[in-house]
Amino acid sequence: SLRKILIKGGTVVNAHHQEVADVYVEDGIIVAVKPNIRVGDDDVTVIDATGKFVMPGGVDPHTHLAMDFMGTRTIDDFFSGQAAALAGGTTMHIDFVIPVNGSLSAGYEAYVEKAKLSCMDYGFHMAVTKWDEIVAREMEIMVKEKGINSFKFFLAYKGALMISDELLLDGLKKCKSLGALAMVHAENGDAVFEGQKRMIELGITGPEGHALSRPPLLEGEGTARAIRLAGFVNTPLYIVHVMSIDAMEEIARARKAGQRVVGEPVVSGLVLDDSGLWDPDFVTAAKFVMSPPIRASGHGKALQAALSAGVLQLVGTDHCVFNSTQKAMGIDDFRKIPNGVNGIEERMHLVWDTLVESGQISVTDYVRLTSTECARIFNMYPRKGAILVGSDADIIILNPNSSFEISASSHHSRLDTNVFEGRRGKGKVEVTIAGGRIVWENDKLKVVPGSGKYIERPPYNYLFDGIDKAEGNYLNSLRAPVKRYKATT
Ligand code: URP
Ligand code: ZN
Ligand code: ZN
Ligand code: ZN
Repeated sequence: SLRKILIKGGTVVNAHHQEVADVYVEDGIIVAVKPNIRVGDDDVTVIDATGKFVMPGGVDPHTHLAMDFMGTRTIDDFFSGQAAALAGGTTMHIDFVIPVNGSLSAGYEAYVEKAKLSCMDYGFHMAVTKWDEIVAREMEIMVKEKGINSFKFFLAYKGALMISDELLLDGLKKCKSLGALAMVHAENGDAVFEGQKRMIELGITGPEGHALSRPPLLEGEGTARAIRLAGFVNTPLYIVHVMSIDAMEEIARARKAGQRVVGEPVVSGLVLDDSGLWDPDFVTAAKFVMSPPIRASGHGKALQAALSAGVLQLVGTDHCVFNSTQKAMGIDDFRKIPNGVNGIEERMHLVWDTLVESGQISVTDYVRLTSTECARIFNMYPRKGAILVGSDADIIILNPNSSFEISASSHHSRLDTNVFEGRRGKGKVEVTIAGGRIVWENDKLKVVPGSGKYIERPPYNYLFDGIDKAEGNYLNSLRAPVKRYKATT
């Protein structure tokens, strides 16, 4: 029989509109959204959402589950990471496929295996870490046959994932020709390498050396360079994990000039500051190590303001978790602390509390920043990111009057610490429906490994609309070449 759910009396919120209505779901799809739906059936699960918000499940644009990185592997896999996500109101994520020895297809095969554990829907981005004819051809296969329409280029992690400007240009051109979105990790990797040597020479080997070695200006430089090179190629660009005012201001400037640049802050960068890196306890300090670093207080507030002003477009997490024993690989040298923090379970709550509860954004903006904009940018809208007839039944019910509290002792991730330990706030996700199944209710998870679907994302993207015709772009600003005649004497 059909799986039927009727959500009654809540305020249904989309990115453009909110109204009190019922939502009726059959077999994983939303089939009606209107007031006073009556279903004459007794096998319908009815949920009363009076006084609560009924919203599209969160879509997290940036995660690293079961990633091999810095000599170890992130401890949340596609099951535990997704279970944590569902408990926090996120119903889909896009993870980064890391190539195997530079091979995109080998990386893709490995991630297809890892994702078999999935209990919610997911998509893939792909990192590009070297360049040759094979890689160029593999990018085309990923876009045309595998549903991957976004590629990440790392300007940092020298000696590992870092690429040259030459490769970035090749990659940007290829993305443009395929209609795929280029993404960058924007820090100057050569300068970071130099900064790290300086710290070690000064005898600064602890986690604070991580922040000191790669200050905001190096993120500003990487962001500015990537934006300018994308402008030169005239293709859209997505800046992942925007952590500083320096990077945000580059994005603001480019967008004001009409360039198609998207900026993604992550929840750690929005709500934390760098003080934890100076904690005398190594484990406590090391849990804050991620790249680009969590910045001094003031940056997070500015990023929040940029989100509410529309300078930045969506919120990710960069969920990339290593437990205390893994972090201890860098006990004598911060350069060996595996980089990454949690967020997949906390994002929806912290964005609500920090931005909606504080009055900085509206509830419709909340849906846009946590769900709809991600679905649009990565070409999954309105299947994802909306409560509309025909959309996937990925739905959350948030009670603005109940509260959440974050702790490693109660979260669902495998991580033994939590970078947001002790934070509490207003607004709790009480019910999560994913693929038409109630997976989170009464603080209990009911998840099934293997039930998540891979979401293919076709190459075309609204970001490309008329790009070579847009006024003021680089190509159009070139003057016509001069035709020269042979001189006659
Ligand atoms: O520290 C981080 N961000 N780890 C994950 C890899 C990346 O750069 O996104
Ligand atoms: Zn309406
Ligand atoms: Zn990165
Ligand atoms: Zn990342």
